[in-house]
Amino acid sequence: MKISNAHLRSFRNHYETAFEFGARVNVLLGENGQGKTNALEALSFLCLTKSFYASADATVMQQQQSFFEIKSVLVSDEGKEFVVRVAYDDNKKNKKFTINGAEVERFSTVIGMFPVVILSPENNSITFGSPVDRRKFIDLVISQSSKAYVEDSMEYRRIVRQRNAILTEAKGRETSSEIAPWNEMLIKYGSRIIFKRNKFLNEFAPYIARTYLDIVDERETPKIEYAPSISVNDDSTLEQIAEAMERKLAKKKNDEARFQTTLVGPHRDEMIFSLNGTSLKHFASQGQHKTFLVALKVAEFFYLKERCNETPVFLLDDVFSELDEHRSKKLLSVAESLGQIFITTTSEKVFGGAEWNQERRKFFIHNGTVVNEEQAA
Ligand SMILES: Nc1ncnc2c1ncn2[C@@H]1O[C@H](COP(=O)(O)OP(=O)(O)OP(=O)(O)O)[C@@H](O)[C@H]1O
Ligand SMILES: [Mg+2]
Repeated sequence: MKISNAHLRSFRNHYETAFEFGARVNVLLGENGQGKTNALEALSFLCLTKSFYASADATVMQQQQSFFEIKSVLVSDEGKEFVVRVAYDDNKKNKKFTINGAEVERFSTVIGMFPVVILSPENNSITFGSPVDRRKFIDLVISQSSKAYVEDSMEYRRIVRQRNAILTEAKGRETSSEIAPWNEMLIKYGSRIIFKRNKFLNEFAPYIARTYLDIVDERETPKIEYAPSISVNDDSTLEQIAEAMERKLAKKKNDEARFQTTLVGPHRDEMIFSLNGTSLKHFASQGQHKTFLVALKVAEFFYLKERCNETPVFLLDDVFSELDEHRSKKLLSVAESLGQIFITTTSEKVFGGAEWNQERRKFFIHNGTVVNEEQAA
């Protein structure tokens, strides 16, 4: 898929910005705080129906405004055109998503239609941060390749909230009869999520191994190990996972009453990243973290490309600032070979000598607008 153009209105610091994108490489160049990341956020918002950075829609709306809009023409690999528009009205607290003029009723049906891979400084938390950051990562990948997963996850979150409310209200008192139906639901949806995550990590292993070899010269073997709150094997069935959850819930009953929270289920999952058998989180150097992350994202690209039957767009936010010139050039050449890419940067250095044309475009961003090359020079 490719993004032909985008029209932003009242989105962050973009009052009204129009882009006509190049089919391959798009570089958003500009000083700090000018609106480069905001433009990428708008593109990912369109693909994912929400912000990858902010949790509330109103956050991305320009201050002092009461609406925002992003409108774009997307072209699928087969050449089909989609006019996609998302509009938010703050007075009505209403977000509307339309594709070719038809309103989308369930946003979950959009996720995965226009696959997107984002590599940004925020992603550093995937390898450095807490389990929740790693869960967010795999959730976004699986969600883009499975609509059922999106719906199961939403339902599961609702169930955990309800179940926690019962445990909190009970203040340690016996809850067996009240909580029984919620246990059943927790197991039903929780086991599906664990099953899918387990399956995903098995499928993903060769992708990460291959991309790691492609972008790193020396031999380091990356691994992602699934560590859920129950024990699973590579080939655990849905039934086995459900049974394990049931057993663990019975075992944790007293602890749950005491801590007044749900202790079993995919919301407690962890994923352990390692290189040559050594934990990344605890022992890896900065460069190894970064390389692992880049490999993870490129692997995500290939995984989604195959699963969605559609080439994702690749958004690279400020990736060169942490890499030396050699690695930057290498990453750029890998990224350019993938599909349509969007890169924000404060310095043109890594593009030194590159030709700019219809396919490879450069945009200077200043104070929330695109000023063209000539003007900025
Ligand atoms: N909701 C909003 N309304 C208006 N302005 C906003 C809003 N949210 C963020 N901004 C402004 O957007 C600017 C930051 O834009 P952005 O993050 O895109 O910068 P950038 O060009 O990526 O800079 P850097 O190179 O530092 O990453 C800030 O000046 C910030 O005040
Ligand atoms: Mg930025």
